[in-house]
Amino acid sequence: MNSNAIYTQRRAQLAAKIGPNSVAIIPTAPEQQRNRDSDFPYRPDSYFYYLCGFTEPRAWLVISGDGQTTLFCQPKDLEREIWDGYRLGPEAAPGQLAVNAAFSVTELDAKLPALLDGREAVWFPFATHKGLETRLDGWLGSLRGRVRYGSLCPQTQRDLCGVLDEMRLVKDPHEQAIMRRAGQISAAAHIRAMQCSVHMLQADQELREYHLEAELLHEFRRHGSQFPAYGSIVAAGANACVLHYRADRGLIRNGELVLIDAACELDGYASDITRTFPANGRFTGPQRTLYELVLAAQEAAIAATRAGARFTDPHDAAVKVLAQGMLDVGLLDKNKVGSLQDVIEKRAYFPFYMHRTGHWIGMDVHDCGDYTEPSEIGQVSSRKDALTGDTIKDRPARILQPGMALTIEPGIYVRPADAVPEQFHHIGIRIEDDAIVTATGCELITRDVPVDVAGIEALMRA
Ligand code: GLY
Ligand code: MN
Ligand code: MN
Repeated sequence: MNSNAIYTQRRAQLAAKIGPNSVAIIPTAPEQQRNRDSDFPYRPDSYFYYLCGFTEPRAWLVISGDGQTTLFCQPKDLEREIWDGYRLGPEAAPGQLAVNAAFSVTELDAKLPALLDGREAVWFPFATHKGLETRLDGWLGSLRGRVRYGSLCPQTQRDLCGVLDEMRLVKDPHEQAIMRRAGQISAAAHIRAMQCSVHMLQADQELREYHLEAELLHEFRRHGSQFPAYGSIVAAGANACVLHYRADRGLIRNGELVLIDAACELDGYASDITRTFPANGRFTGPQRTLYELVLAAQEAAIAATRAGARFTDPHDAAVKVLAQGMLDVGLLDKNKVGSLQDVIEKRAYFPFYMHRTGHWIGMDVHDCGDYTEPSEIGQVSSRKDALTGDTIKDRPARILQPGMALTIEPGIYVRPADAVPEQFHHIGIRIEDDAIVTATGCELITRDVPVDVAGIEALMRA
């Protein structure tokens, strides 16, 4: 299927979901000023791009419930195009993008009231586009002003996010193919960074976090990735214990671990990989002990990822392995925290493992989609959180279906404390791969970079 056919099909699906008497409005993302005359690199809105694949700024889609699509886009303008580059323009848009009609975005206010006239409901993404509600109020106001002349103003406003989030949650073959390629590029970038680390240390060169970040960015871009999918984390030694550390200028020392959480975005789709490796290519004993524990937790989580399982099953599987391992290696003292079951129930593992084991991934690195099961939304139970005492409302977690994509990313982060064996102080480890759920398990799409101790050491020796 060519990409226009895919977008047309998605718009038809959306139209069927909102119903024939509705209309949906989806603007793309605004351009963002960085400072004075410089903008941040432009990235279209994910919902907008999902529905038409158009990457120019200042564009809007209007999709009516009968499936007709109108695009508003930048008009052709020779002078602006000399400065800012080519514009598709409304004349060429229907042919290029397979929309039914296209107008200049300067006609938005003039045309929108007529597109809303007589519809029962208007759908738009709530709370995602600054100023959208005000624009819509203006269009609805002008319709109300014409009711005596026969105009009919929509009575209902509905959030489009839920509908689109559900569609985006299950990745179609076209999306899966792009995500696989993004995963391959990101894996190659991790390999490049590992090799650079060992080469620079062996050559006695000063090695800093930004040296490895540069390798990652080089590899992303040379394979056509447009952006990193999120701010790259390159954390040397103790910096790995800061969960949202960014690549900075920290010195990477021989004997330390490096945690890299970095991956590219390709054609609108994110990847998300973390590897933790010894800067010099050889794990020390304590590093290896904790690394193998995190890897075992990841393997347990991977084994729990399949259609029919709950979104929380991989997390629960990882926690079980990590908690047992923390007791075994002495991060937790059995005499103080009790049995494995106590550790899990009281969340005694939390000082060393304080995040979830995954999230949806797709166009957005933390992708959209409900984490609770829509068919069981009424089944609410309450419990007291073991650590905070807060009352938590639990709803049944999402049941995984083939085509859903999620990360699997357990970790261990050891900050120094009296009760913690010194050999583990300052070690931070996370291992993260991206998985597409299949009927019988999951497909890991980021495994072109080694993950086991022997594989990493062999790569770095080569
Ligand atoms: N890199 C963001 C995350 O792992 O969720
Ligand atoms: Mn992640
Ligand atoms: Mn990550």
